Amino acid sequence: MWEYTEKLKELFLNPKNVGEIENPDAVGEVGNIVCGDALKLTLKIDKETGKILDAKFQTFGCASAIASSSALTELIKGKTIDEAIKIKNQDIAEYLGGLPPEKMHCSVMGREALEVAIADYKGIKIEELIGGKVICKCFDVTDEKIKKVIRENRLTTVEQVTNYTKAGGGCGSCIPDIENILKEVWAERIIEEAIRPKERLTNIKKIALIQEILEREIRPRLQADGGDVELIDVDGNRVIVALRGMCTECVMANVTVKNIEKKLKELVTEDLMVVSEGGQG
Ligand code: FES
Repeated sequence: MWEYTEKLKELFLNPKNVGEIENPDAVGEVGNIVCGDALKLTLKIDKETGKILDAKFQTFGCASAIASSSALTELIKGKTIDEAIKIKNQDIAEYLGGLPPEKMHCSVMGREALEVAIADYKGIKIEELIGGKVICKCFDVTDEKIKKVIRENRLTTVEQVTNYTKAGGGCGSCIPDIENILKEVWAERIIEEAIRPKERLTNIKKIALIQEILEREIRPRLQADGGDVELIDVDGNRVIVALRGMCTECVMANVTVKNIEKKLKELVTEDLMVVSEGGQG
């Protein structure tokens, strides 16, 4: 049973802006009934100001799809198309007070319908907009869509990609491709972070970057050998970690901690010092 917020339940039971606008200025249709979810968004747009005067939706989907579509229409009404296009799937989820992780694809579908509708208004062809090669045949999801969703939502696992796009949620034969896309996107990101001109790292950014590097670069390698590492704290430039699994008893624990330090110095900042909770390092 999913955990739904009160706001989501309210919009599911009393959805706003249901229906179809007659003679709409823009139409965004996404999803596929065969795959389980579909959404049609119609907009009335003031040609002078670009303001969205009205938005209506029809959806075939679950409670989260209905609530997400309703939230989307509420979020965009009254905005100009330039303002509306900045709305991300996270904004839709936030409007609902959150969505169950397995239902995040409903917010992604809303964001996509908006993009398609605005492209339609501007006369851009759908093929130009989405593009890419189909990776998941069960749900008709392309590599470009998977990359975009990974980047925008900072996804790190196949399970998350499935929650956000459905890709991988059927026969599973596309899972190795999704894994490769995840590696590719994160490799790009890590390189970008590493070569970006060194701005002063605030504490929050530093901790986020340390966590990211641990998740993407370090933990998978340790886990492959039956070990693991957990970030315990960051105190100034002192990074406190705890080795887990096989690493705990390993005679090379000091070396592991030093290697973690080397990687973090390389990709976060030279000033870091890594120590293990157990004293190694
Ligand atoms: S091809 Fe992706 S789940 Fe079947």
